[in-house]
Amino acid sequence: MSDRLMTEQKMPLNTAARSAEVVLRTHDLSKRYGQRLVVDTLNLEIRRGDILGFLGPNGAGKTTTIRMLLGLITPTMGSIEILGQDLATQRARLLPRVGALIETPALYLYMSGRDNLRAVGTILGGVPAQRIDEVLELVDLRHRQRDRVRTYSLGMKQRLGVAIALLQDPDILILDEPANGLDPAGIVEMRDLMHRLAASGKTVLISSHLLSEVQQICTRVAIINLGKLVTETSVEALTRGQGEYNVQLEQAQEALTVIRAQSWGHTARITSEGTLITPAPGGRGKDLNLFLVNAGFVPDALTPATQDLEQIFLQLTNGGSGDSK
Ligand SMILES: Nc1ncnc2c1ncn2[C@@H]1O[C@H](COP(=O)(O)OP(=O)(O)OP(=O)(O)O)[C@@H](O)[C@H]1O
Ligand SMILES: [Mg+2]
Repeated sequence: MSDRLMTEQKMPLNTAARSAEVVLRTHDLSKRYGQRLVVDTLNLEIRRGDILGFLGPNGAGKTTTIRMLLGLITPTMGSIEILGQDLATQRARLLPRVGALIETPALYLYMSGRDNLRAVGTILGGVPAQRIDEVLELVDLRHRQRDRVRTYSLGMKQRLGVAIALLQDPDILILDEPANGLDPAGIVEMRDLMHRLAASGKTVLISSHLLSEVQQICTRVAIINLGKLVTETSVEALTRGQGEYNVQLEQAQEALTVIRAQSWGHTARITSEGTLITPAPGGRGKDLNLFLVNAGFVPDALTPATQDLEQIFLQLTNGGSGDSK
């Protein structure tokens, strides 16, 4: 048997059980601007420990949704529940439980990173110096905390923005395009920060255009288009494909003929690179392997066929044409 045989998908980074507490829920959330319903009866659910990627083409309604979640604009219809309570009636109590970074943070450029945190801490009240140390550590800015923000890279400013959002140790962190405009090194640093947040058990909603980032960071994705929820599922389930397997073996053509003759194998095919893509009997990789071996074909490798999140996204959003309609 092949030593590269692999039938299980690797587990997502954060495996928060779906039974975890719902920390944020929207009920038919809608926002109308003039004649346009830019957020259309959106029902979202975020559970504790989820790292939810909030995806959609330009103009899909992501920022508008986030502004409603933060109480910055009022929904036209529908409601928002945070930690089991209604945001509209419990605003003052709930908003401190939500930290946010919308696009670029508002920073005092002539002050140091630490002084920015101190200033915001003073405005918020009750933020101990120790918490400032903690968030500086978390966003990896301790070594630059005394330098003026003017001298920071864009990535460092974004991370300082995340640090500000974390000051009150919120239950939920909402980040609108945190990696927007960052260079590859900045993106890697932001990704590492997201991993640290995930490991610390934070619940995070991240809106992004960077699908490969979402695929690496998030446990779940919600995709919206034209204000409507297109899908809300785990990254693993979304990218798993249709229960198909990639099989590498020497006699791919012969194996294809045999598989095609099976009741479960009609859709099997061979890619231009020579990889056999096939469903499995009963949908199980080990049964496919057994079938192949019994038929005289020993696979070099057998892995679940995954779809790229980018392809799925374009399919689900009709080529990502949110703004053009
Ligand atoms: N204050 C406003 N008045 C009128 N229309 C608005 C207003 N704010 C947003 N819109 C419109 O609502 C739609 C959704 O905008 P929104 O900013 O929420 O999209 P988005 O998904 O965040 O897009 P992007 O990916 O470009 O950030 C867009 O068509 C936008 O032009
Ligand atoms: Mg936006």
